[in-house]
Amino acid sequence: MAFPIQRLRRLRQSGPIRSLVRETRLSADQLILPLFVHHGTEKVEIPSMPGQYRLGINDLVKETTRAFQLGIPAVILFGIPEIKDEFGSEGLDPNGIVQQAVRAIKKETPELVVITDVCVDEYTSHGHCGIVKNGKILNDETLDLLVKMALTHVQAGADIVAPSDMMDGRVGAIRTALDKSGFQDIPILSYAVKYASCFYAPFRDAAGSSPEFGDRKAYQMDPANRREALREAELDIEEGADILMVKPALPYLDIIRDLKDHFDLPVAAYQVSGEYAMIKAAAGKGWLDESKAIFESHLAMKRAGADIFLTYFAKEMAQMLTEGQL
Ligand code: PBG
Repeated sequence: MAFPIQRLRRLRQSGPIRSLVRETRLSADQLILPLFVHHGTEKVEIPSMPGQYRLGINDLVKETTRAFQLGIPAVILFGIPEIKDEFGSEGLDPNGIVQQAVRAIKKETPELVVITDVCVDEYTSHGHCGIVKNGKILNDETLDLLVKMALTHVQAGADIVAPSDMMDGRVGAIRTALDKSGFQDIPILSYAVKYASCFYAPFRDAAGSSPEFGDRKAYQMDPANRREALREAELDIEEGADILMVKPALPYLDIIRDLKDHFDLPVAAYQVSGEYAMIKAAAGKGWLDESKAIFESHLAMKRAGADIFLTYFAKEMAQMLTEGQL
């Protein structure tokens, strides 16, 4: 029984009716705000990410307090060290920038969930996510660094650790070490499916973490591969991951849906720096309506199956959601 009996426009005729039959909704309590922290007191805007900054600890705490007031439950921290070296030493220092930042945030807003990115690339002089020898990124040797880094984050008070390096076996290594040290209740948010993407470019600008030589294709996933994402996720689950992340988000909606359909873990989607930059750039030129582009892109991720969103737009979204603009 088709037209004229069936008329789909009946349920589209007014705002209230559309609202009643809306299938997908966004809410502030699913958002994670990524933040960059550096030494010193300067607040430096990231050129390729207008509206995002490298923050000193004081400004960072202002920002996290504001995020919490807006109803955002969690932040994820990225550190920019004073000195970068071959092994990313500051990343493992109990007094490193991220460890200090975690302590400062937890002191001010203990209920805010503080997640830390566990990866050495922001701290290494060569910009790779692991120990480099003869031009190769060593897997097993890097695990020791990641384990040490995760432990210092948790000892500083981090609530969740998020390994983003794509070394094989890192979730298991971190899980074992956390459990041995009495941190069996700390969840691991795994960057389970992380592609070797061009959309991280503005982040590398922000963290100064572009690889000095080569690229990340020997450890991050090939954008052409879909089935491999399931293998990555499955292994991380076996190793003890609690939440699975897909990154980037919008160009990989099929992968978000695959993970949702195959596994019972919560799925997080990371709208990465390049996705942020695209919206900002087009909106800046007046070519797109920024709020609408933010809303529609996150709705797409949610429809695809994402439960949690890591997004540089978290504050704008939370504000618009409370004001009923979205
Ligand atoms: C690695 C890491 C990266 C991002 C998050 N964690 C950079 C990379 O893999 O090169 C990118 C996030 C973004 O682009 O917003 N520590």
